[in-house]
Amino acid sequence: MGDFKRIFERNRLWAEKIKEINPEYFSELSKQQTPEFFWIGCSDSRVPANQILDLPPGEVFVHRNIANVVVPSDLNCLSVLQYAVEVLEVKHILVCGHYGCGGVLASIDGEDHGLIDNWLQHIRYVYRLHKDELDAIEDTSARADRLCELNVIEQTRNICNTTIVKNRWKAGKEIAVHGVVYSLKNGILNEMISQKSLTE
Ligand code: CO
Repeated sequence: MGDFKRIFERNRLWAEKIKEINPEYFSELSKQQTPEFFWIGCSDSRVPANQILDLPPGEVFVHRNIANVVVPSDLNCLSVLQYAVEVLEVKHILVCGHYGCGGVLASIDGEDHGLIDNWLQHIRYVYRLHKDELDAIEDTSARADRLCELNVIEQTRNICNTTIVKNRWKAGKEIAVHGVVYSLKNGILNEMISQKSLTE
């Protein structure tokens, strides 16, 4: 429990450090947010949106879940998406997966994980869509990495197929949807897919 108190100490020191640089920082930021980016990523603690994009608070609107899945019946995800697109009017949506994703690995390890297996069915569905390609990859970790990429591509397509994004494009508004994969080993993002309109 003693260690937990350090959280508040760190928080206080952080707030002080920011105010030293810009005394108005918090009063300015508390008035509004105008982020240009909406990030849908994995909950993995090693894949934090702001740090990876090197952007300060206020610049990225974020939704995270296990294995960055976008399901059209997930009200949580759709509500965040609707707010990002219609109210904040973000210009870019990034669906970010990452190599070595525990959720993706768990979806293909053949073991019982309890409740989360229900969620992981969405990844298994991606596997089925690309079964021939994935089954042909002999190395287990290379196959999992490819599934991480294909998962990002499919989840990005799911975003593009939501009524929220489609209606935006139909209304002639500019918004781009990108599927990217992050490497835990070198910190680099690779773009797998990008869509800017209904026709592409
Ligand atoms: Co993950």
